[in-house]
Amino acid sequence: MKALVYQGPGNTVWADVPKPAVEKPTDAVVRILRTTICGTDLHILKGDVPEVTPGRILGHEGIGVVEAVGSAVTRFKVGDRVLISCITACGKCEACKRGMYSHCADGGWILGHLIDGTQAEYVRIPHADNSLYELPAGVDESALVMLSDILPTGFEVGVLKGQVQPGQTVAIVGAGPVGLAALLTAQFFSPARLLVVDQDENRLAVARRLGATDTVNSATAPAAKTILEWTGQRGVDVAIEAVGVPATFEICQDIVAAGGHIANIGVHGRSVELHLERLWTHNVTITTGLVDTNSTPMLLKTVVSGRLDPTALITHTFRLEDVIQAYEVFGRAADHQALKVILTAESGG
Ligand SMILES: NC(=O)c1ccc[n+]([C@@H]2O[C@H](COP(=O)([O-])OP(=O)(O)OC[C@H]3O[C@@H](n4cnc5c(N)ncnc54)[C@H](O)[C@@H]3O)[C@@H](O)[C@H]2O)c1
Ligand SMILES: [Zn+2]
Ligand SMILES: [Zn+2]
Repeated sequence: MKALVYQGPGNTVWADVPKPAVEKPTDAVVRILRTTICGTDLHILKGDVPEVTPGRILGHEGIGVVEAVGSAVTRFKVGDRVLISCITACGKCEACKRGMYSHCADGGWILGHLIDGTQAEYVRIPHADNSLYELPAGVDESALVMLSDILPTGFEVGVLKGQVQPGQTVAIVGAGPVGLAALLTAQFFSPARLLVVDQDENRLAVARRLGATDTVNSATAPAAKTILEWTGQRGVDVAIEAVGVPATFEICQDIVAAGGHIANIGVHGRSVELHLERLWTHNVTITTGLVDTNSTPMLLKTVVSGRLDPTALITHTFRLEDVIQAYEVFGRAADHQALKVILTAESGG
């Protein structure tokens, strides 16, 4: 089969590799129908995630058809159409019992990281019963790809950990797919104001279409000062960080109101200064997290019912074999007005 193989920082190749097979009774092999590229894949290509070693097939999102199952898989059979979670969960260990699947003793974020991933014609999914979801009929399948990672990430790590409540003022720093997923799902809780910060005018325009009440371009305006002015110097109840660089975490510390929350989502490759000399009086809560994807079944229902429509996050579609071109577009998103790119396997062959 063909797959996108990581060959070290800045270097990937679309190559012939052995087709995966069931290795353990709890495994399934899935033929990929659609997959996508994550901001985290760009971090991997930059060398920010050194656990990813040359030879690894990238990708941790997608939908497909079950091709083979191990003898212990009970919830899925050959031919089932499934959503692949970016998080693998055994369902039995202490972390899984707490719903903290990201820290599963035999799983967590391993796809396209510690084991081969989904930017391929086929992928092996360990603990298939707890790591796959049945695809509902009658829903745009590209929209469902947004449920593998970005929607649960924006919702769980941004909105739920930030404890967004009705009437609040919420700022989202970073309007990439993950920040925009937080923007969409924050609206479940009816905040009064949704402020979005980014440096990409196109993404800020999308944010306004998706419910942002005000946006600020931090490349051309002082974001923190502007938000403090908008809030009468009070600041925001919840600041969601969805970039992963020191400058954006600084903005969150500058704008959080007394009693507020900073919910960090971004993958940070460098340390960040914590301004306790100012924040110690502020009664703030700072949270971090890797997505658990335990909200996926709930989010799936909201997409099926039409309450949540993630199709606006998809800007480009490529054939799977053109994945390297898709990386170029997603990696230079501002030049291409790109958000999520969908990769489609025509026949799956
Ligand atoms: N915690 C988790 O479980 C988890 C899961 C998935 C993704 N992530 C992380 O979430 C982050 C966002 O992911 P994404 O796919 O949306 O990435 P992305 O790269 O598409 O988006 C990042 C956005 O930040 C903006 N930006 C960059 N520098 C900025 C600055 N100084 N000020 C304001 N905006 C700036 C960019 O213009 C871009 O729109 C990444 O760090 C990703 O690795 C975390
Ligand atoms: Zn991801
Ligand atoms: Zn587990």
